[in-house]
Amino acid sequence: MKVGIIGCGSIAKHRHAPEYKGNPYIDEIVFYDRNRDRAQALADLFNGRVAESLDELLEDKSIEAISDCSSNETHHIFSTKALLSGKHVLAEKPISLTIAQANEILEAEKQSGKVLMVDHNQRFTRAHQKAKEIIASDELGKVLTFKTTFGHNGPEHWSINSTNSTWFFKKDRSGFGVAGDLGIHKVDLIHYLLGDEIKQVSAFQGSLDKVDEHGNPIEVCDNIVCNLKTQSGRLGTASFSWTYYGEEDNSTIIYCEKGILKIYHNELYQIEVIKENGERIHYQLEAIQTNDNQTNSGVIDAFVRSIRLGEKPIISGEDALASLRVVLGILEAAETEQVVRI
Ligand SMILES: NC(=O)c1ccc[n+]([C@@H]2O[C@H](COP(=O)([O-])OP(=O)(O)OC[C@H]3O[C@@H](n4cnc5c(N)ncnc54)[C@H](O)[C@@H]3O)[C@@H](O)[C@H]2O)c1
Repeated sequence: MKVGIIGCGSIAKHRHAPEYKGNPYIDEIVFYDRNRDRAQALADLFNGRVAESLDELLEDKSIEAISDCSSNETHHIFSTKALLSGKHVLAEKPISLTIAQANEILEAEKQSGKVLMVDHNQRFTRAHQKAKEIIASDELGKVLTFKTTFGHNGPEHWSINSTNSTWFFKKDRSGFGVAGDLGIHKVDLIHYLLGDEIKQVSAFQGSLDKVDEHGNPIEVCDNIVCNLKTQSGRLGTASFSWTYYGEEDNSTIIYCEKGILKIYHNELYQIEVIKENGERIHYQLEAIQTNDNQTNSGVIDAFVRSIRLGEKPIISGEDALASLRVVLGILEAAETEQVVRI
């Protein structure tokens, strides 16, 4: 099949395009970006072609699926339009900036009957897959509490516009700052690993260190720390940061009735299980993807498989909406200094 990519920045270059290129069912990638040079650069790199306009891309009947890799504020426009044009859609996270916008996309999914998947790629890493298996096996008993974090040195080191004027720092385009950029990944991961949903939150947020192109503190948070309670009463904490300078932290600890599961805490062993008697079991799987180490995420292969086999995608629009609700709740809690029920 042929696929189209809308938005030819960093995630298109480092994940979507190379993984489509490596998928045996993909014949050609068609690139569209309002900055034509960026589309051309990826077309050259991945031996694809450029669409001159969004309409040209969406009206092309030979294209079956679209990756929406545009910045956050346009996901609901492009993903909705692509679905209603009869394309399967893999939308980047966060699904949208508001619940109403997410519902627009979900409605278009229903109307079109096409596959909608959202790129919450944390579900796919081997360590997270293994962690889910260990939790489900009941070897450690029930999950009681958890602690998760995701932080790096900031999107101005990643985005195609690698300066402080990046859209990631603008309220109207990024929406949620680090909470929607990194936080939403771990919210989705906790939902996935625990088979449970976060239902109550409190939080503190700040723009502690990042400045915009004029030297002013950015309009969105660069750090947020949260207390979380799930539907079934589990308690957790989460910290999300764009100011972890020197090294990324992408780790999670799950505390259970009969021991502890540590994920991405040890460089050598991606999972450590510590039993209640102190016994340690180490799993050597694969290193987590970082901004500097982009290995195959498995997301594109899963999306293509869903389309080919007519299977429900591993991350649905509803899953993405559930995570969006939590991020909105966390930000409301931080703003109002109140506990928020999701
Ligand atoms: N799943 C992940 O792990 C992950 C990682 C990074 C980024 N992302 C998400 O991917 C999306 C893109 O992020 P990025 O890092 O590639 O950003 P980026 O700034 O590097 O690239 C975005 C591209 O979209 C294009 N674009 C923006 N608005 C457009 C419009 N209206 N019409 C046409 N083109 C438009 C820009 O010109 C730019 O080339 C964001 O939603 C981000 O949250 C996801």
